[in-house]
Amino acid sequence: MGKGFYISKTVGVVGIVLGAGALVTIIALSVVYSQEKSKNNENEVKPTDAVTSAPTTAPSNEPWDQWRLPQTLSPQTYNVTLWPRLEPDPTGLYIFTGMSSVVFRCVEKTNLILIHSNKLNMTKQPTLMALGSKPAPIIESIVMHTKTQYMAIHLKDELTAGESYELYTEFVGELADDLGGFYRSEYNENGVKKVVATTQMQATDARKAFPCFDEPAMKAVFHITLYHDPATVALSNVDSTLVTRTTFAATEVMSTYLLAFIVSDFGFIEQNIDKLQIRIFARQEAINAGQGEYALIVTGPILKFFERYYNVSYPLPKSDQIALPDFNAGAMENWGLITYRETALLYDKEISSNGNKERIVTVIAHELAHQWFGNLVTLRWWNDLWLNEGFASYVEYLGAAEAEPDWNVKDLIVLNDVHRVFAIDALASSHPLSSKEEEIQKPEQISEVFDTISYSKGASVLRMLSDFLTEAVFTQGLQTYLNYFEFNNTVYTDLWHHLQLAVDRNNNSLPKTVQEIMDRWVLQMGFPVVTIDTTTGQITQEHFLLDPETKPDRPSEFNYEWFVPISWTKNETTQPLYWLLNKNGELTVTITITVIFTVEEMDHPKMIILSLHIHVIPNPYDFVSYWVLANINVTGYYRVNYDNDNWQRLLNSIPVINRAQLIDDAFNLAKAGIIETTLALRTTLFLNSETEYMPWEAALDNLDYFYLMFDRTEVYGHMQKYVGRQVKDLFDYFTRLTNWQDVPQGHTDQYNQINALRVACSTGNEDCKTLITNWFKQWMDNPNVNPIKANLRSTVYCSAIAAGGEEEWNFAWEQFQNATIASEKDKLRAAMACATEPWLLNRYLKYTLDPEKIRKQDATSTIINIASNVVGQPLAWDFVRANWEYIFKQYGGGSFSFSNLINGVTKRFSTQFELQQLIQFKDDNAHIGFGSGSLAIQQSIERTNANIKWIEKNQKAVLDWFKNPS
Ligand SMILES: *[C@@H]1O[C@H](CO)[C@@H](O)[C@H](O)[C@H]1NC(C)=O
Ligand SMILES: *[C@@H]1O[C@H](CO)[C@@H](O)[C@H](O)[C@H]1NC(C)=O
Ligand SMILES: *[C@@H]1O[C@H](CO)[C@@H](O)[C@H](O)[C@H]1NC(C)=O
Ligand SMILES: *[C@@H]1O[C@H](CO)[C@@H](O)[C@H](O)[C@H]1NC(C)=O
Ligand SMILES: [Zn+2]
Repeated sequence: MGKGFYISKTVGVVGIVLGAGALVTIIALSVVYSQEKSKNNENEVKPTDAVTSAPTTAPSNEPWDQWRLPQTLSPQTYNVTLWPRLEPDPTGLYIFTGMSSVVFRCVEKTNLILIHSNKLNMTKQPTLMALGSKPAPIIESIVMHTKTQYMAIHLKDELTAGESYELYTEFVGELADDLGGFYRSEYNENGVKKVVATTQMQATDARKAFPCFDEPAMKAVFHITLYHDPATVALSNVDSTLVTRTTFAATEVMSTYLLAFIVSDFGFIEQNIDKLQIRIFARQEAINAGQGEYALIVTGPILKFFERYYNVSYPLPKSDQIALPDFNAGAMENWGLITYRETALLYDKEISSNGNKERIVTVIAHELAHQWFGNLVTLRWWNDLWLNEGFASYVEYLGAAEAEPDWNVKDLIVLNDVHRVFAIDALASSHPLSSKEEEIQKPEQISEVFDTISYSKGASVLRMLSDFLTEAVFTQGLQTYLNYFEFNNTVYTDLWHHLQLAVDRNNNSLPKTVQEIMDRWVLQMGFPVVTIDTTTGQITQEHFLLDPETKPDRPSEFNYEWFVPISWTKNETTQPLYWLLNKNGELTVTITITVIFTVEEMDHPKMIILSLHIHVIPNPYDFVSYWVLANINVTGYYRVNYDNDNWQRLLNSIPVINRAQLIDDAFNLAKAGIIETTLALRTTLFLNSETEYMPWEAALDNLDYFYLMFDRTEVYGHMQKYVGRQVKDLFDYFTRLTNWQDVPQGHTDQYNQINALRVACSTGNEDCKTLITNWFKQWMDNPNVNPIKANLRSTVYCSAIAAGGEEEWNFAWEQFQNATIASEKDKLRAAMACATEPWLLNRYLKYTLDPEKIRKQDATSTIINIASNVVGQPLAWDFVRANWEYIFKQYGGGSFSFSNLINGVTKRFSTQFELQQLIQFKDDNAHIGFGSGSLAIQQSIERTNANIKWIEKNQKAVLDWFKNPS
């Protein structure tokens, strides 16, 4: 099946070094290649010949105009051979050639073979062979449908149900730098440009590498062969045998989106845990510098943890992880060959911060979690993506906690996921976790489901579920689910079913079934605010909307009512779990009665223990007490409000647990007009004596909103004075602790040290400013020695560049270009957006669309960074508007960036004028479209409206409060 080999100039030299034998092989191979090439030319199908392009007509009911494959054919095995050229052809194009055969079974007779194929040119007439006794039908015509990304093969006769056939294709595709399908990544090493051929298939780009039935439920076995230079390494999902081409063993039965193949001259380090081979790959330079060590150290314990957690051994013989210089997402869970952005895998003890370290360990845990949940058992279709991603986003904390037991990393889900997604899910234009299968059809609709709701709300509700079932019951259900469905596909209710079986086995104590409870969290968008009145004992729930004047965009069959698990304490005593069942305040609590009796059975007395769970209505006065605090550790996906007296009591003696949550609830309830804004601001009064990270972070996150709304108004000055006073003690505390020379012990203390420095400097603390300016100056004086502590670099760089001018900026730019670790590059890249001279920022914006300066993977986040700067905001907005068409076309392929970009550049919007501009922008570009950012436009308009109303209502009170805080 082979078709050609890759020979590059640099490798010509390597071949000689390897000796005559290798050289002979290379020459022989090039002969094969030129023969193949001329053969291809002979056989090339002219566009007018057999392969034609479909005329662009109106959509019809024809199968090739549908986005989903018909169920007539079922793929069994593929044999794919690919040859990426790591040097451009004479026209400057990077290409790959390939040949692929797929064996499929005909499930239902048909005279049409519909197979996905996108941006591939067939170089030979595809052929069809029957594997049974009957001959294969003759191919009548082949039509490429570019819109729906199909190759349609029309047959003269029908395929027979139950028979198997083999379809063979040869093709050529572009190895573009577009971060999707089979693509190329470039980097410099010792002044030499290097090219990597790599893949990103999820969600719908396997069809850009070879013709395939590209749906997650069309699982098959893949035999992959890669032709490549002998001096390069070829990797794929499974183990390989290397000749001058690399042929990989058959994969397990798997989905196309989890395939990966990579050709590079990367280095690696390895470790064997039991019989499992674990390897970390990266640029040689990064491997030599030891940047892969941390990933290697944590992978073993995390894999072992998941084997126990799932009670299923790791399904593959090896686990490779590789860091790529160009990568759109954070990482991708390809089965056995996980791909990462460099910042998500590579760690340098001296240069990386503890935040970088946390990201690495959590991303690794996330991707490893998918090796079972997602890869071994796969959701049938993308509408259930939330279960796959939500699950991994929840258990990534459990895996990370296993590798770093001292970090209390599990607590951070509250800040990173729950609080973050509350902000979006409180909009009337939010959407439910689950969508109907038929609503998610086109590739851009599939891209759009990779959003914060899927990841963070998914994680939050699964954490709630695991909590109220108890972890023991949750994992039991999970384990039978994985066992039952291994190598197969599911819908999310299959998991509910297995959890229910576990609940029943463990003596049900739930007031409703798992499905009944979860339907309300999964099928309707948003979440409730639970109000507890400690004077009357009344408890109620209501759909929480950030703008109380909006109505949810869509009706809910559950009428925006939830079954809410209420964990709570009163007077510091933990209470049993209550369930709030409806808006009328109907409560239930389960009490367990254990009866022991003996029966005589065949003359043997036998003791029987019977546990009965009874659901009773609690006493309404249960909530009447000194103080009540509900939703402990924010395990429930809801906010809590109290009567004014209870709020006052909580504020006067805020219990240590849940300080962060009280702050976040108070600020958001105030935003929705449910409580006074000044009550929310009062939750920050105690910060002057607070040294814990969680409450500080929650407060700063919420004050950020005030900065966004007011940093262009007179409120700003007063607010700065107040925040400066509140942070002074924290700054002094860290000065006393280490005098900024050492890193504090605790993981979150390290984060709070950064907060102290950042906030003190940004509010004008003179001691802080002196520190920072000196550090940066020292560095500029001696660029080879960076004296700034790794954790503090982001903050120091940003402050110094904000305070400086062209010289500081250019220095940072130079360091950015020279940095050899991606996380250091990222810090500098973000810091350059802190400049305060408009011309520097405008120049920087231009750089974002030049991949030679800013990699494509980083373009949107750089624009967002610039927009977060009050000076950069209008510049970034103008820039995005002026360049929308270009950005959309150039960067449209990536899955995640558009909604982030739109939300990022509009988050400060709070005037009628800005609202008009936003609506205008939407209208002006309707013909180009917004791709995966369509919903984000709607949400930005809604948020702007809410901001306008909020400012009107609150500006005066906020100004007065900051003038005289109490
Ligand atoms: C795939 O190709 C290999 C050799 O390239 C061959 O041995 C094998 O039989 C092929 N398998 C299928 C299913 O075509
Ligand atoms: C595929 O064919 C189109 C149209 O002829 C051409 O523009 C494109 O460059 C070809 N792609 C490759 C990789 O050869
Ligand atoms: C996959 O699961 C379905 C039930 O959901 C079952 O009918 C089918 O046989 C399973 N397939 C395999 C290959 O186990
Ligand atoms: C809670 O504590 C307060 C003060 O310590 C006391 O007055 C009140 O009766 C207690 N309430 C309950 C229900 O225990
Ligand atoms: Zn994931």
